Amino acid sequence: MLVLGIETTCDETAAAVVERGADGQGRILSNVVLSQVSEHAEFGGVVPEIAARAHVEALDHIVATAMAEAKVSFADLDGIAGAAGPGLIGGVIVGLTTAKAIALTHGKPLIAVNHLEAHALTARLTDGAAFPYCLFLASGGHTQILGVCGVGDYVRFGGTVDDAIGEAFDKTAKLLGLGYPGGPLVEKEAANGDPERFALPRPMSGRHDANFSLSGLKTALRIEAGKVAPLSDQDVADLCASFQQAVVDVVGDRLRTGLRMFRERFGAPTALVCAGGVAANQAIRKILHRVAFEIGISLIAPPPALCTDNGAMIAWAGAERLALGLIDTLDVAPRARWPLSDVTKVIAERV
Ligand code: KG4
Ligand code: ZN
Repeated sequence: MLVLGIETTCDETAAAVVERGADGQGRILSNVVLSQVSEHAEFGGVVPEIAARAHVEALDHIVATAMAEAKVSFADLDGIAGAAGPGLIGGVIVGLTTAKAIALTHGKPLIAVNHLEAHALTARLTDGAAFPYCLFLASGGHTQILGVCGVGDYVRFGGTVDDAIGEAFDKTAKLLGLGYPGGPLVEKEAANGDPERFALPRPMSGRHDANFSLSGLKTALRIEAGKVAPLSDQDVADLCASFQQAVVDVVGDRLRTGLRMFRERFGAPTALVCAGGVAANQAIRKILHRVAFEIGISLIAPPPALCTDNGAMIAWAGAERLALGLIDTLDVAPRARWPLSDVTKVIAERV
């Protein structure tokens, strides 16, 4: 089964063609991603209006490139998958409308994919991960611990009550004048810093739910930075190292709680899976490995290009749904907000 996937929910314009075999194995035929980072850099974050216009300008060409690289024609496809949310609504409209137009023109089924579901299922494309597994999703827009029990069967054990982890990295970078996107820059600075110099809080640690809160950490960092301003290069490195260590400690604590909740409900997960741009951080990777090791499971970390936003994950989620006969009508609406719990409910009604 061949599916074209289109992703435009944030600042990546992406399209891909993925094949799903009858045995459930996945193969990526093409995966084209155009990042808009340079267009948003001077604003220190994604500007929704600029993002939507950039998607309009780029998407046709990105889809054509994905089709050409996969060496397939529209007639060869079994379905067209478009990310229908959650995300910045202007971009979602562009991608989903394009997916609908292709589906209509070529008489192919449309699959309106939840972007979070696509992140959740990527480990099945890359590593054939078996259900049920525990997912740690941490990007610029999302921070969640999920139980992934089947296609359309997700349980949320925790999430952020304010900022996402990637967002906290980006805000830290902005505060310290490092640039955007902040995650890699903060990680680079942290390598030369002292993680114990500044006493920063570990928000939510020890709590019985698996939720995160990052905004207090950001405020504490601002106060500490204010105390030592003007900042020397070493001050910046030490602030980054202290911030990153606090995040690492929080991730370890929250994941241990999330995994405990998982085991109480479903028994041992087959693996701990990570997704989202934050999973590229080596210090965070290390704590994920340790937490998985502690309970005797392995960490599945898809390659960075498939952890961050891409079209292959949308195509794959589309293929998984198509294999179950779960397709959508052309009047399906784009959604800025679309919690995974809604996907689960809808599937339960339809299967
Ligand atoms: O998944 P992603 O590419 O896009 C979405 O947000 O959907 O994630 C981007 C986020 C940004 O906030 C970025 O700062 C963060 O992931 N990030 C990192 C690192 N690389 C990217 N955060 C910490 N350390 C990194 N090395
Ligand atoms: Zn994402």
